[in-house]
Amino acid sequence: MPMPGQTKESGGRSLAFLRMVCYTETIKQRAGRTPCRPYSKKRRRRVGAGHRVGCRVAPFRLGYSMPDGPDGSYRPGGLDRDGAVDFSMKRGLFMIKISPSILSADFANLERDIRKISTADYVHVDVMDGVFVPNITIGLPVVKAIRPATPLPLDVHLMIVQPGRYAAQFCDAGADIVTMHVESDTEANLRDAIERVHAKGKRAGVVVKPGTPAEAVLPYIRDVEMILVMTVEPGFGGQSFLSDQMIKVRAIRKLINEQNPVCELEVDGGVAPDTFRACIDAGANVLVAGSAVYKAPDIPARIRLLRG
Ligand code: DX5
Ligand code: ZN
Repeated sequence: MPMPGQTKESGGRSLAFLRMVCYTETIKQRAGRTPCRPYSKKRRRRVGAGHRVGCRVAPFRLGYSMPDGPDGSYRPGGLDRDGAVDFSMKRGLFMIKISPSILSADFANLERDIRKISTADYVHVDVMDGVFVPNITIGLPVVKAIRPATPLPLDVHLMIVQPGRYAAQFCDAGADIVTMHVESDTEANLRDAIERVHAKGKRAGVVVKPGTPAEAVLPYIRDVEMILVMTVEPGFGGQSFLSDQMIKVRAIRKLINEQNPVCELEVDGGVAPDTFRACIDAGANVLVAGSAVYKAPDIPARIRLLRG
């Protein structure tokens, strides 16, 4: 019988099986530090619905190694019944991922600064067009140029209007994850954009600005590998964390657990030593941090700290 949170496609697989697959894949990935490659069709069928497209390292680190509850209940990602992270369980197995934003790096020394974050999980790349947000940053040539500089997956956050126009090109340039704002185009066009990313064998995600309600992710939640909740108004690094967004993070964590438990939940903006814990407690499993990482005197130590 399928357990709560399981989809029809993943319902036939036991958690023990999923853990074994994910653990093995993670160890292989870490040992070789190979660039992220999508699953084969066969493997995607075996691992489940949320990983039609995905990085081999993802499922284990999403928390599938967590034990079930004492009563045998299913706890995706080591979450308690309200959807918050349960720290009473074996901590350390539920792994928080850190995605440092290179918006805070020295653009004249990008390669050097990307090497400085080699202990992180992703590299967060903020793409801004000066229209969707009042700032212009990185584009396709820069993504292409930094791709060989790191084996880490490139987590590309598109803050541009009609992102579907460029989604496939960012994949070709080396993006492993492409996230697009729900406010940036029509639902039909965004669905099409998500499909374009998947057609390239990459992970797709949707992003919500602070003023956008949690329900805005509902049309996409079953079809994406990541949901990103902005904890600042998009456009600039170094802004103050909006703690009122934690209500939304909790609400989306609940929706993810119910509808697509392997989807990652990322937060972005103002994540720092005094705010990261609230994000984890609310159910985020990927933390973007720009200034908090690059301004730290010891970057690897800061990354370790933010992992909790
Ligand atoms: C803001 C960007 C963020 C930003 C985060 O629009 O999406 O990724 O770089 O920077 P910090 O962590 O400094 O708030
Ligand atoms: Zn960002």
